[in-house]
Amino acid sequence: MGPGGAGGGTGGGALVQAYDGARGKTFDSGWKFYLGDPANAQDPSFSDTSWTSLSVPHDWSPALGMSQSSPGGSGEGYSIGGVGWYRKTFTLDSSYAGKNILIEFDGVYYNSQVWINGTALGTWPYGYTTFQYDVTPYVKTDGGNNVVAVRVNNKQPSSRWYTGSGIYRNVWLTALNPVHVAFNGAFITTPTVSTASASVSVVTEVENHSSSSQSVTAVTHIYDPNGTLVTSNSSTASDVAANGKATIAQSLTVSNPQLWSVDSPTLYQAKVELQVGGQTVDTYISPLGIRSINFDASTGFSLNGKAMKIWGMCMHHDLGAIGSAVNVRAIERQLQILKGMGTNAVRTSHNPPAPEFLDLADKMGFLVMDESFDVWETGKNGLNDYHLYFNSWAQKDIQALVSRDRNHPSVIMWSIGNEIPGATAATGQKLRDWVKAIDTTRPVTWGANNMKTDQGQRAVAALLDLQGYNYFVGDANTDTGNFTLDNDHKNNPTWKVFGSEECSNVKSRGIYTAQGTNLHWTGCSNQQCSSYDVGWGDGFNTEEMFLINAKRQFFFGQFDWTGFDYGGETTPYSWPSKSSYFGIVDTAGFPKDIYYFYQSKLTTAPMVHLLPHWNWTSGSTVWVWAYSNCDSVELFINGVSQGSKSFSSNTTTRVEWTLPWASGTLRAEGKRNGSVVATEEVKTAGQPAQVKLSADRTSIHADGRDLVFVTADIADASGVFVPTATNSITFSVSGPGKLTGVDNGDAIDTSSYTSPTRKVFSGKALAIVQSTGTPGQIIVSATSSGLTAGSASATAN
Ligand code: GAL
Repeated sequence: MGPGGAGGGTGGGALVQAYDGARGKTFDSGWKFYLGDPANAQDPSFSDTSWTSLSVPHDWSPALGMSQSSPGGSGEGYSIGGVGWYRKTFTLDSSYAGKNILIEFDGVYYNSQVWINGTALGTWPYGYTTFQYDVTPYVKTDGGNNVVAVRVNNKQPSSRWYTGSGIYRNVWLTALNPVHVAFNGAFITTPTVSTASASVSVVTEVENHSSSSQSVTAVTHIYDPNGTLVTSNSSTASDVAANGKATIAQSLTVSNPQLWSVDSPTLYQAKVELQVGGQTVDTYISPLGIRSINFDASTGFSLNGKAMKIWGMCMHHDLGAIGSAVNVRAIERQLQILKGMGTNAVRTSHNPPAPEFLDLADKMGFLVMDESFDVWETGKNGLNDYHLYFNSWAQKDIQALVSRDRNHPSVIMWSIGNEIPGATAATGQKLRDWVKAIDTTRPVTWGANNMKTDQGQRAVAALLDLQGYNYFVGDANTDTGNFTLDNDHKNNPTWKVFGSEECSNVKSRGIYTAQGTNLHWTGCSNQQCSSYDVGWGDGFNTEEMFLINAKRQFFFGQFDWTGFDYGGETTPYSWPSKSSYFGIVDTAGFPKDIYYFYQSKLTTAPMVHLLPHWNWTSGSTVWVWAYSNCDSVELFINGVSQGSKSFSSNTTTRVEWTLPWASGTLRAEGKRNGSVVATEEVKTAGQPAQVKLSADRTSIHADGRDLVFVTADIADASGVFVPTATNSITFSVSGPGKLTGVDNGDAIDTSSYTSPTRKVFSGKALAIVQSTGTPGQIIVSATSSGLTAGSASATAN
């Protein structure tokens, strides 16, 4: 079918729910999409009846698969971009008459142009910042059709990682009375915090779009985590000029506050009501976490006065098989998995995150390094990188980020960039000052990769509040000349130093090459890397970097590259590698062994983890490692002890044995004070015989968005997991669910993420099933030739 044409009409639009005073109505459903670039698609009379109906968030790339000839190349995971159009026909009833009407896009990748009823509203190049258009003069509020049209141009290459394409974040319609709080216009901070009392500052920007001056009162309420009102304040700006603005600053006190922390992420809520003539005309609600942060050049970071190390992960924004289309459950699952290994922070490398990510970080207790850019004036991935727009857009984009995200307690630092080629102090200072013009309560930093020789980077670092080093440089092992991070610290004793990016090691889940070899990368085979802790080049492996960090108090934390594998950056390989090897967790969400190293160092519930698997051949000598947070681990083969080894101190990163393999059961017993408190068994599996499915939750929301993640494990006839299995399986779904993505975490599997059939990788695959919006039982089944099928279910309600 063709792309449509003029004169065909669009059909009747759905009514956006009647105006009820609440901000931000969802504007996600009822869109039409066309992949291509038809002429005049912005015209209201253009016919989009042949276009695909869908809801946003939407990323068109996963369904197109991967292609070796993608201009995005290995950097963008051979994904397919191009030009696409979205149109939405909607109606507003008379409850909208006289209101200010705004449309907000949380993120459109890339270079969006938006029209309303044929009138161009503007373009927004950067794909990661939130923008808003005032459509008041152009919309009908008499029930007649309005048409919003969005052209998206993801012209590749524009990035060093998988970006996704389209309106991949949420869209909102906001209707406001003429007197209202400005966009992102209430700034809430906690200037003083103790367990006895906290002061809360609420600074509200009021806009008066009416034609007469107004007396505006801000009535601000703070509610505790149970929803109980704890304090209020009322302040008036008595003469806000017609078409003018005013700022109302309020200070409130919360007694005996429950402080927000990573272990106890307690959230209050601030509600600002603007009143005119005693009537509430706008209500603005914001999360409020009462917490204090401090960075000290010698003693490091403290939260609420307590010193702690930041053990963070760098994360790109994609969600594996579902691409970059924002889904709250998919982000929550990633964060739950990261939390499970003791991670307490995330760096949103290298771009502003989805707002939902920060809501979850607030709720789940993550500290966030909120990052703006990967490039400034000089591009990294060729033709269409953001460097094209930097000079004209950087201020708008970085200020959009800071004003949107500044009320999140999780955000503890702003990053003005990552590994900037050609960085100059002049640009660094501008960016820093644009951030500080909006928020001075958080430090400004970045990630610098060349502090040794790049004088531009050093000059920028000197201007910043925190000095982020990408990759610990010049330790005794690798020092050349006089430059070491320790020397740099001595020479710049006021600098507050951390690892904005560390480790960057490459691993493939369940692959155990490098048996007994040195732990620095020397190449792997079949485009797979090893799952042992192999460091990158002559850089540190994860265990070494952990110790370097742990013994330096001034080094206040690190963000490792990366928490999850992501599309693109297929280093050290290219096609058919389409996703990264850097993840501690693979794209499907299955942890690699190194996950358990972090867990052993950063969590306290007793655990022991063994590697490798136990499916070898007779005569093999196997390098067995155990990660544990117990005092000692005793290893048994088929019940025979192979000896006990101790974790003498926090500097023991693992215990290991080199053993002749024998078919059967490898068992580890972790002991504390002489008692067994944790065990793990790894068994030799027989031939694949069955598919076992397990769902991550037994019930999900019947809301058309929620997801159930179903893991498929290949097992032998006795139910033992087969770690070497490569069987192809086919998923099917019945009930109110649809298969929205399939994955196995294999970096070199280029089969479509949306096809129901996939080979397992190292014994595992994943099906992502989405609610269709109606209640009922969702049953997921998986068949595989010659194997007993498996099934799992979840109830949507
Ligand atoms: C860093 C860079 C990251 C990623 C990583 C891979 O230098 O900041 O974005 O490319 O290298 O090792």
